[in-house]
Amino acid sequence: MNTLRNRSPYLANGRSPHDTDPALTASGESLYERVTLHGVTLHLPPPNSTADTAFIGQESLVTACEAAWATGLAFALESPPGNGKTTLAAHLAQRAGQPLYTIQGHEELTPEDLVVTARISGSGDVEYVGSPLLAAMMRGGVALFDEIAKAPARALATLVPVLDDRRSISSVLAGITVRAHPSFKFCATLNPSDSARQPLPDYIDERLRPLLQLPRPDAESIVRIVLNAGGARADVNLLKAFREWLSAATEVSPRAALKVFRYATALLLNEPSLPANAIAQASVAVMGSQHGRAGV
Ligand SMILES: Nc1ncnc2c1ncn2[C@@H]1O[C@H](COP(=O)(O)OP(=O)(O)OP(=O)(O)O)[C@@H](O)[C@H]1O
Ligand SMILES: [Mg+2]
Repeated sequence: MNTLRNRSPYLANGRSPHDTDPALTASGESLYERVTLHGVTLHLPPPNSTADTAFIGQESLVTACEAAWATGLAFALESPPGNGKTTLAAHLAQRAGQPLYTIQGHEELTPEDLVVTARISGSGDVEYVGSPLLAAMMRGGVALFDEIAKAPARALATLVPVLDDRRSISSVLAGITVRAHPSFKFCATLNPSDSARQPLPDYIDERLRPLLQLPRPDAESIVRIVLNAGGARADVNLLKAFREWLSAATEVSPRAALKVFRYATALLLNEPSLPANAIAQASVAVMGSQHGRAGV
């Protein structure tokens, strides 16, 4: 086991001062990158692609998020499922011109999952694998901790030095401490049902303020989202039927609306019918007969 090293420079401009090995697949996608830090070789995951991210509306919320980052604060976005939290985070990373690294919160997440885990290579050696959070800190990216309230408190304690003035993270396993690149940014998302069931520990909750609510978009904004996602090429009668359904429906998330619209489009292609019937059939299939579920 390596001893803990506290020197730990961040890697400026997204490049390592040490040897790096960005492997590419045949289709040009980047794989884990090999970085050597104080003699420890780490395999860092690639960022998510944000190239196709389009986030429509909610301009004042975008401003509020960027104001938090401009003052060095992390923030949390809260809304029911399907309202656009993850999409907004990707949009913000794209606007900032920084790579996005996503950590998915779940019940089994361990402290090591948030920093460095070990695996045995094909040749039998121990290899250290950095988390998306570590990669974001080293690369000066945006870390998005999606559905953070699902993660156990034991894992979340790892975030304490990340989110205060230390801006650092330690791996006992690899024996390293990494100080975040100055551009590193952090945000998290929460579903109200998860946070009601399992509230965040106070010391994490405080570090994730401001807590910003993402309101459900109104019907007209949802139509804009659907048009932007390919709906603009759709049959005008289908669009008309969709607008009518949407204005009468309640509690429709953008995700649910997109699914209803896409499914109705496919139904019409396969079997000519009245557009209103296709929308009705798709909405029951996607949202249930009562349209009772807020998000899908
Ligand atoms: N404002 C928006 N502009 C463009 N697309 C949107 C917007 N809001 C939601 N969407 C679309 O709706 C879908 C669901 O959004 P997203 O996954 O970001 O929701 P979420 O709030 O993160 O949901 P969950 O809580 O289930 O993770 C995505 O396909 C996304 O493209
Ligand atoms: Mg999400």
